Amino acid sequence: MPESEVGLLPRELDGRDAIELGCGTGYVSAWLARRGARPVGIDNSEAQLATARRYQQEFGLDFPLLHGNAEQVPYPDESFDIAISEYGASIWCDPYAWIPEAARLLRPGGELVFLVNSILAILCGLDDGNLPAGDELLRPLFGMHQVDWPDDDSLEFHLPHGKMIDLLRDSGFAVEQLIEVRPPADATTRYKHISLDWARRFPCEEVWRARKL
Ligand SMILES: C[S@@+](CC[C@H](N)C(=O)[O-])C[C@H]1O[C@@H](n2cnc3c(N)ncnc32)[C@H](O)[C@@H]1O
Repeated sequence: MPESEVGLLPRELDGRDAIELGCGTGYVSAWLARRGARPVGIDNSEAQLATARRYQQEFGLDFPLLHGNAEQVPYPDESFDIAISEYGASIWCDPYAWIPEAARLLRPGGELVFLVNSILAILCGLDDGNLPAGDELLRPLFGMHQVDWPDDDSLEFHLPHGKMIDLLRDSGFAVEQLIEVRPPADATTRYKHISLDWARRFPCEEVWRARKL
């Protein structure tokens, strides 16, 4: 979906300090930089950062890229106006570590924005991520926190909405929006775990927006 329809990025970006938590190839930071923000990307993979650096050269952008853990960012308190994560810290870090860390890094009034798989996609998804989600709930919602995907030996973190709201509130945020992403009828995908038919009926991804009080 085009950003003009999703509305993931904060509206005011010009001159704002931003940190991308788990920046990977850094394309979200690149979007921010092109809109006038001053992004910093942090990622714990040197290989991903090497790709990000190559893209910086290719597209003529230059912003700091740090090698480190998004749960413990080496910046002082209240250094940023925006903290953002697109499938970075938002699914790979423990929310009970990275969300309080984002709160520490943000100035009062600062915005936290993150994109993740929807809870329904996690509930209906099979352990084999190559098989599409169906209409049956395959995992319990209560107690959801660490989610294992044995087929590729990885684990992610996902919280039920009630727990996520509690955590954001306890970390000093006010929740402003939960965008349930619905692709257009003619959308295409290269992913196997969600079909277009499923994603037209249920949200497959969600964007959280919260503001530090
Ligand atoms: C699926 S990528 C998404 C990042 C970016 N949006 C992209 O598409 O390149 C997830 C990134 O999170 C990073 N990551 C995972 N755990 C992390 C941690 N604890 N601290 C920082 N980065 C982390 C991974 O190295 C990877 O680059």
